[in-house]
Amino acid sequence: ARNIEIVPEIEMPGHSLAALSCYPKLSCTGGPFSIFPFFKGPGITRDILCAGKEETFAFLEKVLGEVFEIFPSKYIHIGGDEAPKARWKTCPKCQKRIQDEGLQDEEELQSWFIERVGRFVESRGKRIIGWDEILQGGLPAGAAVMSWRGVEGGTAAASAGHDVVMSPTSHCYFDYTYERIDTRRAWSFEPVPRELQPARARHILGLQANFWSHINREPEEVDAQVFPRLLGIAQRGWSPKSTGAWEGFRRRVQAHLPHLEAMGIRYYSDESVVPTAGGEE
Ligand code: ACM
Ligand code: ZN
Repeated sequence: ARNIEIVPEIEMPGHSLAALSCYPKLSCTGGPFSIFPFFKGPGITRDILCAGKEETFAFLEKVLGEVFEIFPSKYIHIGGDEAPKARWKTCPKCQKRIQDEGLQDEEELQSWFIERVGRFVESRGKRIIGWDEILQGGLPAGAAVMSWRGVEGGTAAASAGHDVVMSPTSHCYFDYTYERIDTRRAWSFEPVPRELQPARARHILGLQANFWSHINREPEEVDAQVFPRLLGIAQRGWSPKSTGAWEGFRRRVQAHLPHLEAMGIRYYSDESVVPTAGGEE
């Protein structure tokens, strides 16, 4: 009804502590693990899914199979980011996998992991998209990339013919403060890098703003983190490159603030939109 397609993300092999807490045997060490106390920072853990155990893949295929039934999207996001390799380095099963598959190291094991899951996803008529770490050690054919550690990974992937969504921390991270990324900065983001050959520009599918809710959890906190800068990123996402000056857009955002208020959205008083103090009125 709203022309929105939801793409679910199932993180692997890292950022999987919640799954490991319930199924510790899917880790390298066997656990036990707990998600408490909740993360106050990035939430990167040494314990990740074991790449040496067949159970890991049986589990992922079962979970993904359920996800395919719930979400009709063409893409399934499989994460791939921020997976420390310390456990894999000392796990006999992971090391055996490296040997058996003729891999160089743990980075190639991650690539093998993603490729295996990618083949499963493709066998169900879907495509994978993952964070730019999936470029390390070789990218499976047909995979799309979400570029978050800058735009370089996305530029490299698009140059190699992969589809890309740009989402760099420099402009697109709405868990960051407005001091780092205000509405004007979000609005100023250019998702198609200048150095990309024009013939490859069509591989830049678009952009995405990220909001991770493990630190700002309360609805009013989320409202302020996301609004009004989401208007800036949305404008950038659906506009042609020559999209006019900031001042005109700023006035339109100002005019839109009462609408946000009427919807009960507790937006942030962003100085780049309303230069004087305030902004609630
Ligand atoms: C990410 O922010 N770890 C994708
Ligand atoms: Zn292992």
